[in-house]
Amino acid sequence: MVRLTPTPQVPLLPPHQRPLDMTDLPIAHVPRVFSGVQPSGALHLGNYLGALVKFVDLQHRMECLYCVVDLHAITQPQDPRLLAAQTREIAAAYFAAGVDPERAIVFAQSAVPEHVELAWIFNCVARLGWLDRMTQFKEKTGKNKERASVGLYTYPVLQAADILLYRATHVPVGEDQKQHLELTRDIAAKFNHDFGADGFFPLPEALIEGPGARVMSLRDGRAKMSKSDPSDQSRINLLDDADTIAQKVRRARTDPAPLPEAPEGLAERPEAENLIGLYSALSGESVAQVLKRFAGQGFGVFKPALADLMVEKLAPITKRMRDLMSDPAEIDCILAKGAERARELAAPILAETKARVGFL
Ligand code: TYM
Repeated sequence: MVRLTPTPQVPLLPPHQRPLDMTDLPIAHVPRVFSGVQPSGALHLGNYLGALVKFVDLQHRMECLYCVVDLHAITQPQDPRLLAAQTREIAAAYFAAGVDPERAIVFAQSAVPEHVELAWIFNCVARLGWLDRMTQFKEKTGKNKERASVGLYTYPVLQAADILLYRATHVPVGEDQKQHLELTRDIAAKFNHDFGADGFFPLPEALIEGPGARVMSLRDGRAKMSKSDPSDQSRINLLDDADTIAQKVRRARTDPAPLPEAPEGLAERPEAENLIGLYSALSGESVAQVLKRFAGQGFGVFKPALADLMVEKLAPITKRMRDLMSDPAEIDCILAKGAERARELAAPILAETKARVGFL
């Protein structure tokens, strides 16, 4: 059996880059963190830096719930033979990155049916016009809107239910989730208003800041690194081995100019800015410090240094993920316990929500 002890090797964000100012906490609600990752493909460096690193940090400071959002994953076609394995893989990534299931509640979304029940109530609170403005839906469907599932359209409503089912106050996410968090706040405010429940749901805060909030594709510095990019060369996957990482960094798109002396020199150089940002996020140094060290050098010098740093930081996580995934029963057991704890927190909040709506 694989023993599940948290790994200490995760780079903690230096204090000036920490996503949360503890003096900023709302007074009326118990501070509580909720976040989730979809089991819809290989986890990549953007997921790690934009979400997982923050998950690990926050668990030491607040009550945290981290979910594998499999209900969200099926808004787009998934192979049923792979979905359960991918759900375990995300959980393994959480633990390998340093999330401690004794501290944080870790569970699969579909094991807590209360998410769906609250999502239905919120479907009746959210307005069509609000969902029509969601840019992620437009990006995901392009000109094929008619062929998209209804679930994909109401995806952000389920996300609001995920968060508000626990009256979570803080949500660590990458920058791409900003609009969904604004919608969550709108739904909370409208529910509170419509049902005379002032302050019942908090207006949760997105914790986006941090050096890895927007990791870009290695092939195009203006597109975000994404699970759904057809080119595997565009991303570093958490399960990539050292050679693959080195090869992807070597082939990453760059420009011919040497690296500048100061951050201003990265303007209009999106690929260079992304690679320097990655070095900064992984090393814990500021962009200015990184540039000081590499100023005047070409990518021929910088890329191998970046690849070495990536391997140094990711290899222990990859190894641990593989070890954990070799014992799926252990992961299932932790997720089942997490779901039980999550349901205990969710039940009274859902019961009060239903009473306020007027259900018997
Ligand atoms: P998902 O699975 O697409 O992404 C998981 C997390 O990774 C972040 N992320 C990135 N961060 C930086 N750079 C990138 N290139 C990058 N790509 C992804 C995402 O912002 C996210 O934090 N809708 C969510 C899942 C979700 C959720 C929730 C999140 C469902 N319910 C409730 C928070 C709270 C999503 O798309 O995850």
